[in-house]
Amino acid sequence: MLPTNVSIFEVGARDGLQNEVSVPTEAKIALIEQLADAGVKRIEAASFVSPKWVPQMADSSAVLHGIKRQQGVVYSALTPNLKGLELAIAAGADEVAIFGAASQSFSQKNINCSIEESIERFIPLMDMAKQRNIAVRGYVSCVLGCPYKGEIKASEVARVSEILYKMGCYEISLGDTIGIGTANNARRMLETVAELVPIDKLALHFHDTYGQALANIQACLPTGISVFDSSVAGLGGCPYAKGASGNLASEDLIYMLHGMGIDTGIDLTKLIQAGKNISQALGRMSASKVANALG
Ligand code: HMG
Ligand code: MG
Repeated sequence: MLPTNVSIFEVGARDGLQNEVSVPTEAKIALIEQLADAGVKRIEAASFVSPKWVPQMADSSAVLHGIKRQQGVVYSALTPNLKGLELAIAAGADEVAIFGAASQSFSQKNINCSIEESIERFIPLMDMAKQRNIAVRGYVSCVLGCPYKGEIKASEVARVSEILYKMGCYEISLGDTIGIGTANNARRMLETVAELVPIDKLALHFHDTYGQALANIQACLPTGISVFDSSVAGLGGCPYAKGASGNLASEDLIYMLHGMGIDTGIDLTKLIQAGKNISQALGRMSASKVANALG
């Protein structure tokens, strides 16, 4: 049975803009406000990582301070360690996300430590978040392949996902970081993870590098999965994953879901306009086929 409504976790302002040329803080603020106006309820707005590693996110504090908040919208931030969490709380993030990987090589390149070391680092962060009543989301990268190591076992994805879930992450987002997966593998991976983490605590975070993201989501929908990460205008990629293009474009995902009679609560016309505006600020065309067809 397919779900009748799903939750969209919009990552364009973070996953998207972390890998684009820097845009002014005001353009980020405008994007986040327009996303909320379009009915998006979960917005990843910032990333408190080392500005030496990702300079595009260095103004995260100013972004969170600058937005006019809408009631009922959750503004989230990426936090790799305790320092990131402290900065995110000071800036007023509603929730945060830790990010691990199912690949040792990617973990080293992305956060400069092994999978085991990353888990150790997350422990004090989780403790503090709990004390401060801040919900923590968990990402697992490279769930369908690694840019450095190649194939990744679904059992390893499930193992890392379960660790993050048992540490207290309220939801685990499974990242096909380099968009390499295909439908059957995506479904098999999800079913393997769902043996250890309940399906209603899982989300899919598919990059669209090989144009497979919608097909992969289609294949996974019958499992009962109902949370999807996507990026307006298909912004972004990952600075530590060579060749990673943007996440699946939110407009394309929402067009498909609405066409299937699955509700998202999002106004597609307003979303397309938000995507157009940020694409203009970046000086490039939207990567959403739907936005370009309807615009
Ligand atoms: P490190 O160099 O091992 O850390 O980096 P460190 O603790 O030795 O600190 C080095 C310097 O960074 C120090 O400053 C710290 O103060 C500073 P210095 O003394 O040299 O001036 N620092 C910080 N500054 C600001 N905020 C912080 C912070 N922490 C330390 N939180 C670290 C380790 C994790 C910090 C680094 O590797 C890093 O920032 N990595 C982030 C990489 C990143 O953002 N990648 C993209 C996001 S993940 C992604 O996109 C995948 C995802 O979308 C899912 C998917 O698609 O698969 C989520
Ligand atoms: Mg990503």
